[in-house]
Amino acid sequence: MFETYASKTKEIRPFEPESAAVARTIAGESIVLLKNDDVLPLAEGAAIALYGEGAACTVKGGVGSGEVNARETVSIREGLENAGFSVLTASWLDDYKSLLEREHTAYLARMRDKAGFLNFKIIHELLSEPFKNPEGMKITEQYLTRDTDTCMYVLTRQAGEEMDRKPEAGDFLLTATEIENIRTCVEQYQNVILVINVGGYLDLTPVEDLPIDAILFFCQQGSEGGNALADVVRGAVTPSGHLSSTWPKCYEDVPFGGTFSTLNGNVDSDEYKEGIYVGYRYYDSFDVEPRWPFGFGLSYTTFEQDAAVRVEGTDIALDVTVTNVGTVSGKEVVQVYVSCPAGKLDKEYQKLAGFAKTGKLRPGASETLSVRFPLKEMASFDESRSVFLLEAGDYAVFTGNSSRNTKAAAVLTLAEDVTVSEHAAICPKQTPFEELKAPAQTLVLDASVPRLPVDPGAFETVRYTYEKNDPAESAAIEQELGKLKDTELHSLCVGSGVDIALPKHHDFIVPGACGYSTGDLEKKGIPSISFCDGPAGLRLFDESVITGNTVRMTKPVMESFAILPTFMRSVIVKKPKEGKMLYQYATAFPVGMALAQTWSLDLAERFGKAVQTEMEAFGAEFWLAPGMNIHRNPLCGRNYEYYSEDPLLSGSMAAAVAGGVQSRPGFGVTMKHFCCNNQEINRMHVSENLSPRALREIYLKNFYYGVTRGNPKAIMTSYNKINGVYAAENHDTVTKVLRNEWGFTGLVMTDWTTDAYLLDSAKAMKAGVDLMMPGIGSDHKQIKKALASGELSAAELRRNASHVLRAITETRLYQRNYGGNNNG
Ligand code: BGC
Repeated sequence: MFETYASKTKEIRPFEPESAAVARTIAGESIVLLKNDDVLPLAEGAAIALYGEGAACTVKGGVGSGEVNARETVSIREGLENAGFSVLTASWLDDYKSLLEREHTAYLARMRDKAGFLNFKIIHELLSEPFKNPEGMKITEQYLTRDTDTCMYVLTRQAGEEMDRKPEAGDFLLTATEIENIRTCVEQYQNVILVINVGGYLDLTPVEDLPIDAILFFCQQGSEGGNALADVVRGAVTPSGHLSSTWPKCYEDVPFGGTFSTLNGNVDSDEYKEGIYVGYRYYDSFDVEPRWPFGFGLSYTTFEQDAAVRVEGTDIALDVTVTNVGTVSGKEVVQVYVSCPAGKLDKEYQKLAGFAKTGKLRPGASETLSVRFPLKEMASFDESRSVFLLEAGDYAVFTGNSSRNTKAAAVLTLAEDVTVSEHAAICPKQTPFEELKAPAQTLVLDASVPRLPVDPGAFETVRYTYEKNDPAESAAIEQELGKLKDTELHSLCVGSGVDIALPKHHDFIVPGACGYSTGDLEKKGIPSISFCDGPAGLRLFDESVITGNTVRMTKPVMESFAILPTFMRSVIVKKPKEGKMLYQYATAFPVGMALAQTWSLDLAERFGKAVQTEMEAFGAEFWLAPGMNIHRNPLCGRNYEYYSEDPLLSGSMAAAVAGGVQSRPGFGVTMKHFCCNNQEINRMHVSENLSPRALREIYLKNFYYGVTRGNPKAIMTSYNKINGVYAAENHDTVTKVLRNEWGFTGLVMTDWTTDAYLLDSAKAMKAGVDLMMPGIGSDHKQIKKALASGELSAAELRRNASHVLRAITETRLYQRNYGGNNNG
């Protein structure tokens, strides 16, 4: 029989209120105030006419692996009522709930019919069509109230794994009913607040000229979202969230958006013709006005920023004094951008170089924030020599509170070109295509802006070597490895399946973990450790039942499971009466995009610590998060899980979250999906075709920051190909860049079922991927065959196995049971 930390009762566990408080604080700081014509905050206890798909049926997060089975979720309606507002439109909201229930039943029936024709790939297939909130009824006379002049309308969308959003009504575009309803609201009510409950953006063109008084980008905020919104609406929290990506006016403005995902009918490959011009790097360089720029967010108060810049060797140090010159307390974000000189290489108008957030400042109060960045991080990649290069010229440093609201703080002058680092050429393009190039811009800056020379001689060129540079394993690991036969070594490199078909021999389980390392070696003192999904918290079974020697879910943990054919359901879903019940209520935290909108590394770390506490309570060892792919296109189905279009913001957030989770020994994060996982439809086969420059400056750079600053214990490869080579078989990215250049020594695993659909496991292992997840029989066969033919060497096998073994021995489970050191 196995051991588990799941509870036998539904009693609230001590971490739950603490996690809820963290989730509420993050949510409050991440909501972005996009417009406010003096309507917010509302008076305490005000009466509100509340409408819209997300009002009573608020979407807390996306679907798929990012979903968290929380004890409860506070909707916007409940949050407002908890805070003492009176919601006067119960009739519309109740009718909407009934409509949603009817539509949900019809959806399940539709999907069940479809499921009849599908085979075992069903889970992947069905993930792609999640249930979406219906648009709702028109706001007709019967739903209006004369007892308030304040109205709130909540727009909602849903997205997730295996699907991309579409530039269609009901998705990126508003529906006719939504437009009409918003128009009715502005006609009937004096004050109208639009709330956007979407883990991404929408085209708001049809309502842009309507007199909407306030717009809040609520995003998707987990269990405490409704309470957090109420905190902002009543002014208990002054908004301090800022957008983590650019909000375009319309989809047509997105560079090369027309070839994304299904839009040009080719889901097999995408050419990144925009090159490095992703997000604000494009909008700012090509003078395309966004609806709201990168980094934008309003407050109930106003701040002034005053920056002083120093050059310290090759680092740039700023002291930015922020003063609250308004009338209420609040927090401000300082963003530092650098415009690099165009030379041989074309350059983006500016890029984010650093950021920081103040504490809560009273009116009149000031705080001086330090922001520091190495100038070499601003270098551009010169493909002709495969080097990162700082070209001679003027580097203008700007500070402000959005990419389009900045002031020049200094001009750094570099008299000569500096080669920052020399690299192996990686991931060559398979077929040539033209990339966008920005015209050189001439910056005209005030003569009063200080000019500060940077000494080119102060830089040292880093020359990478691509030799085997794995550090020697500890004597203890070497000794353990020495005890294992070859077949046992490759067992270490193959996971032991998903939880829905849990193998017998696991001593310790976390119901709902989505995989374990091998259980074959438990008798030898090597435990099978759990990998639990994220990133918005831990995705576990909230309620499960012990039947015999197994644990089964009592209700479908993902909607897609609800529609599995009956024979499959009966294996994986059991009724409570069939055994003893177990409970695990994890907290649904705000999604990754929301977290990034706080621009607070402190909060990201607190979030990580809260997740670690829950991991400890449930006995989880590795968390399959944070997700940190770049928001390349606003339609990517998983953008909500990820942080930003900017590599620095994205990587810094991931590093801070990792710092929190790994602040206690025994727990690990898994940064994912490495890399270029930017399209969900056909994510298993699409080739993301891009220049080595775009790869290095954007899609690897986020992981560079995450890995080098956050020191994650694990990395998960993505499904897609990078210039024709699967990410999980990609020696260039996994070994040359991740291990050789960045010095990563942890565990690299595949994304789930990569082994079933794509991969030759031996090829992956040769490329440097250590662990095939969730692990299937053919992995063993492929490894055995490759060893026999010499395609995979014994040394390579031993290297990969040692990474897995080290990861296992560092877990709390191992330490507690076998290592003689109880960290719990
Ligand atoms: C997702 C991963 C996730 C894994 C395990 C995959 O489909 O892409 O993000 O961690 O499943 O659930």
